[in-house]
Amino acid sequence: MKFVRELKRTNYCGELNSKHVGQKVVLMGWVNVRRDHGSLIFIDLRDREGIVQVVLDPTKADTASAKDFRGEYVVALEGVVRARPDGMKNTKIKTGEIEVEATRCEVLNSAATPPFQVDDENVNEVLRLKHRYLDLRSPRLQHHMITRHKVARLVREFLSNNGFIEVETPILFKSTPEGARDYLVPSRVNPGNFYALPQSPQLLKQLLMVAGYDRYFQIARCFRDEDLRADRQPEFSQIDMEMSFIDVEDIIEMNEKMLRHIWKEIKGIDVPKLQRMTYFESMDKYGNDKPDTRFEMHIVKLEEVLQSSGFKVFDDTLARKGIVRGLCVPGGQAFSRGQFDKLTDIAKKGGAKGLVWLKKDADGTIASPASKFISQEKLQLVFKTLGCTDKDCGLIVADDYDPACAALSALRNHLGRELKLIDFSKYNFLWIVDFPLLEYFPEDKRWFSRHHPFTSPTDEYFQDMIDNNEKAYPHMLAKAYDLVCNGYEMGGGSIRVYKQEIQAAVFRLLGLSEEEAKAKFGFFLEALKYGTPPHGGIAWGMDRLVMLLTQTEAIREVIAFPKTAQASCLMSDCPSPVNRDQLNEVGIKLNAQAEKFLEDKGLK
Ligand code: AMO
Ligand code: AMP
Repeated sequence: MKFVRELKRTNYCGELNSKHVGQKVVLMGWVNVRRDHGSLIFIDLRDREGIVQVVLDPTKADTASAKDFRGEYVVALEGVVRARPDGMKNTKIKTGEIEVEATRCEVLNSAATPPFQVDDENVNEVLRLKHRYLDLRSPRLQHHMITRHKVARLVREFLSNNGFIEVETPILFKSTPEGARDYLVPSRVNPGNFYALPQSPQLLKQLLMVAGYDRYFQIARCFRDEDLRADRQPEFSQIDMEMSFIDVEDIIEMNEKMLRHIWKEIKGIDVPKLQRMTYFESMDKYGNDKPDTRFEMHIVKLEEVLQSSGFKVFDDTLARKGIVRGLCVPGGQAFSRGQFDKLTDIAKKGGAKGLVWLKKDADGTIASPASKFISQEKLQLVFKTLGCTDKDCGLIVADDYDPACAALSALRNHLGRELKLIDFSKYNFLWIVDFPLLEYFPEDKRWFSRHHPFTSPTDEYFQDMIDNNEKAYPHMLAKAYDLVCNGYEMGGGSIRVYKQEIQAAVFRLLGLSEEEAKAKFGFFLEALKYGTPPHGGIAWGMDRLVMLLTQTEAIREVIAFPKTAQASCLMSDCPSPVNRDQLNEVGIKLNAQAEKFLEDKGLK
């Protein structure tokens, strides 16, 4: 450590370039690669900012320790930057014009042989997650983490400059309904009582509006126990904000401005004014409410041409007011039976009961599994309605609205990738607006809020809401908006209910008795009485935002210490059992199912 005591680091490896030629530098970092040429040793020295080539002469006393250097050793060195000779320049790396000729060096720490080379992209993810601190050394993850930091800084700056105040809200709190299961934390001091980790700071940010804070923001940690996917983690971060005395347009304008600022600063891209699309237009055209608009392949309505087709599946669907819709797949004429089977599986996984395909044979007749039931004439008409040419194929799904849309959306998103219809350099942002306020679930025989129960209906439905007029429920629209990009829901929010009597009516329609509403939200209903300003807000998924900026498709890639699809951390092996004393202290006894799980996993 003599070196570190005597010399201060002057530069990061990755920032050196031809401007530094002739300068004396002190560098500290990790040995990425070492090449021993006997009389000279070359190393690639790596730190957070990148890699630089260093030349060391092991025959000289001050650089003799270079002989000991191995991969991932931590070393310090002093040297002079020099231009690389012609023919030795490396255009692939930022520092490829120069190298450092070391005059002194020291091993600061040795390293065990790492289980993988840190910049090797082909290493199994399980191994990388187990040694996350090594993967985090890779230029890839360093870039993601640095981009994340830049986003946080830009957001703080932007919102502060626009009059927002950052306020931290509790992590140990009462459950806020955002549609997922809560993570619970038992209370030792109040046995049998639990905190819930916040699914979002929704109620608290609204209370800050009641308190008169006017413009709030927070980069907030949120926790949701739900099924995980490529873009979902059990704990994630939101850029959360709320504003008073505003309506939908104000939120949209402020957030578009912030979006433009972020994309300009980080990507150098000027984002044009965002298009808006209603929820139903998005569902009808793309089959979902977060459309990937980078490619066309719109869904086509076939209900009219397929009226009384003679095919039972279609006729029955139409008789019960379902939908029959399809897609035209460019070049799909060439698809094999096997490929159609695969597409049928995708449609089924998406929620449909089956898939009908159709394509033209060489003689002009339409081939289709439905050709036994539907006349050739009608099939030709369907083919034309879908907009298919002889080179294309048609795909048709018949079902109730939601499953049919979901299946068509799954097919469309799959085919967009498979057929390379997507320009991955593009960012297509849009707002989805005019969401239905409520959704009916026949299994539960009740209505649910589509966004959350604090979302305001549009003004014309205020009275119907207060009167709990059930006839109006299916038509009620919400003052809600989602920010969508390239098939991701980047953010979502709404204008809130701010009248106590409307909020109480919403709880009633959701089937909460007065006692339940009081037990769960009494404090909130109480607060609404004391002069609540009109207010609304939005939360952006910060992780998804960074995924889009770094063009990665896995949320794990933009979180320093992520969890797997089983919600576990492979590095620290958590969640993990705790000892019985700890459980006793918080008044918890494991049930038979938990005991069996521990036994099966050998954790008992
Ligand atoms: P919402 O539930 O739509 O709204 O969440 C806002 C945004 O958070 C992101 N997000 C997630 N990201 C990663 N993993 C998850 N499990 C996850 N869940 C959500 C999404 C989403 O758009 N309180 C409201 C906001 C408001 O009304 O102001 C809320 O939480 O990008
Ligand atoms: P079946 O009568 O079940 O053998 O189905 C005949 C064809 O219709 C098969 O290609 C099925 O995949 C397809 N099919 C079945 N149900 C549906 C549906 N709901 N929508 C579209 N196609 C379907």
